[in-house]
Amino acid sequence: MKASLLIHNISHLYTQANTPPVKGKKMSDIICLDNAYLACNEAKIIAFGSGEYDQLIDEKTVVIDANGMILLPGLIDSHTHLVHGGSREDEFALKLEGVPYLEILKQGGGILSTVQKTKAASFKELYDKAKASLDEMLLYGVTTIEAKSGYGLDLDTEIKQLEVAKKLNHDHPIDIVSTYLGAHAYPEEYKDNKKAFVDKIINDLETIKKLDLAKFVDVFCEEGVFGLQETEAIISRAKEIGLIPRLHADEMHPLGGAGLGIKYQAASVDHLMAVSDQDIMKLAESDTIANLLPATSFFLNKAYAPARKLIDSGAAVAVSSDYNPGSTPSENFQLTLQIAGNKLRMLPNEILTASTINPAYHLGVAHDRGSIAIGKNADFVLMKASNIEYLIYHYGINHTAHVFKNGVMVVKDRQICY
Ligand code: NIG
Ligand code: FE
Repeated sequence: MKASLLIHNISHLYTQANTPPVKGKKMSDIICLDNAYLACNEAKIIAFGSGEYDQLIDEKTVVIDANGMILLPGLIDSHTHLVHGGSREDEFALKLEGVPYLEILKQGGGILSTVQKTKAASFKELYDKAKASLDEMLLYGVTTIEAKSGYGLDLDTEIKQLEVAKKLNHDHPIDIVSTYLGAHAYPEEYKDNKKAFVDKIINDLETIKKLDLAKFVDVFCEEGVFGLQETEAIISRAKEIGLIPRLHADEMHPLGGAGLGIKYQAASVDHLMAVSDQDIMKLAESDTIANLLPATSFFLNKAYAPARKLIDSGAAVAVSSDYNPGSTPSENFQLTLQIAGNKLRMLPNEILTASTINPAYHLGVAHDRGSIAIGKNADFVLMKASNIEYLIYHYGINHTAHVFKNGVMVVKDRQICY
């Protein structure tokens, strides 16, 4: 078969050597091909390697010279709160004065303030704002994301958020996998009747499933928010009806959310800044991904998750942005990866595994995304960096030059072109 598109003169082409979940030491097993080419036929990768490629091209092939840039699989950001109304810079001064994140929430601010703004926003307003964020993400080389609801806390607004994500998944080059996060906070009207709210969420799961609006169910499992019992009631029901659990777990306090998630074969347990040693061992023995969000620790001035301990114990780790208006107002996924290097002390090869194949695995898309492999979708990024170490080291800038999604150039010379 001849290529419809061929990229050559790639200084280093990086991809993953193992089948996911890629755990512990294996996270460093990256294949790096020098002086490489990549051949695609329409949306799929048909060949890649070092050296000669003449046999793959004919007069119809579009041939692109990478001019010595590096090539990576399209990046996968597997934890975002993409769709929401407004922003929260009005709380920034409080944060700097040291008012804790959970205290702002308790006073009706934080997540609840974004809930007000999301309820008030029209479908089009939410769509336009989220689309602008997606464009920003794409410019940094992200080609697949997960997106959560959770700023409605009533069924209609949660559905509105999920419908926006569904339409954007259709309209925008970035693929979006959706998560229902109805249990993100208690709405004001349920403040004194928390049990009734948990019952309502359990009831609403059926509607979300019937409308086919989400693949996953998430809960903010945290002291003072949803405790272990409430979380278990929600995710056990979710699992029964075919929605896959994942959790915001052990972010501020070591509640044991990670262990609970593993018990229900959660796809991932996320945050883990306060995860216990016991749950680290359970993670190492399970296929649940430890999804770390270092840009959140950075913005909240909190502890960082014990990434080294997790990897050295044999867990499978992913790294995600947690893009949201409260704890992580930044779409810059490369910055997340650079913080993973500097603060989580993850090695560049581990970071690449954590932002490509492992997130693809826990989002259930590793059969066609997450690595450069024959038959997979042609989702890849060309970066102006001499190697992957340089990408992690030279922080705060955007290294991306071109982005391809399903074999189509969607970012050219740092400009959106889809
Ligand atoms: O993952 N921790 C809970 N949820 C989000 C923050 C949401 C918000 O503050 O709006 C997080 O950090
Ligand atoms: Fe989050």
